Amino acid sequence: MDTQHGAHGGMRFDEASWEERYGATPALWSGRPNPQLVAEATALTPGRALDAGSGEGGDALWLAGHGWQVTAVDFSTVALARAAAQADRLGAEVAGRVEWVHADLTRWAPRTSAFDLVSAQYFHLPVPDRDSAFARLAAAVAPGGSLLVVGHRPSELHTGSPEMFFTAEQVAAALDPAAWDVVACEDRPRTAAGPAGHELPVADTVLLARRRA
Ligand SMILES: C[S@@+](CC[C@H](N)C(=O)[O-])C[C@H]1O[C@@H](n2cnc3c(N)ncnc32)[C@H](O)[C@@H]1O
Repeated sequence: MDTQHGAHGGMRFDEASWEERYGATPALWSGRPNPQLVAEATALTPGRALDAGSGEGGDALWLAGHGWQVTAVDFSTVALARAAAQADRLGAEVAGRVEWVHADLTRWAPRTSAFDLVSAQYFHLPVPDRDSAFARLAAAVAPGGSLLVVGHRPSELHTGSPEMFFTAEQVAAALDPAAWDVVACEDRPRTAAGPAGHELPVADTVLLARRRA
């Protein structure tokens, strides 16, 4: 996700607020897949993927284009409609590999052990919704499958609402060490376009874990 509107200070993150945010602009995100997803999923054998908080579909469509069968979940109908329209533009083969699901991930439970990859990219929830939602996402990973959780580290682009941020270590700590191998648990620096258009240093917090087969 390339942030076009990054500051979190004073913003609300309920369904109506996200709907309003998407409705206020023709495109909130760049449409490109997120760099950590591309970095980690390129090496995986395509299978069934769940994209949690899929936004305008950049990741889901990249996965579908690389042979994955994708379930993309978001509670913004505007974002889902944009994603589905882009899927249609990419053609029937890609469009046919994505199921767009309108659901609130603080309540919606994916099928247990159903996905070879569960990806949550910049899916920041207020505490206490986060722990239970992430636990349901982890439970959806099939034996041998991967859980990829990527979040923003606070930066000039992301001020305020400190409770929305998490670290890869916090996500890893909630995984049963008897069932999971942690492959990556770290912060990765990169640059992103700031509000004035110039590049700013940011960092992602990245957890990649594999459920033991
Ligand atoms: C920061 S955006 C990231 C979108 C996408 N993953 C990307 O990287 O471009 C977070 C997304 O999560 C969605 N979202 C936030 N809370 C949600 C919830 N409780 N249930 C479903 N979707 C949610 C928002 O609508 C938004 O599309």
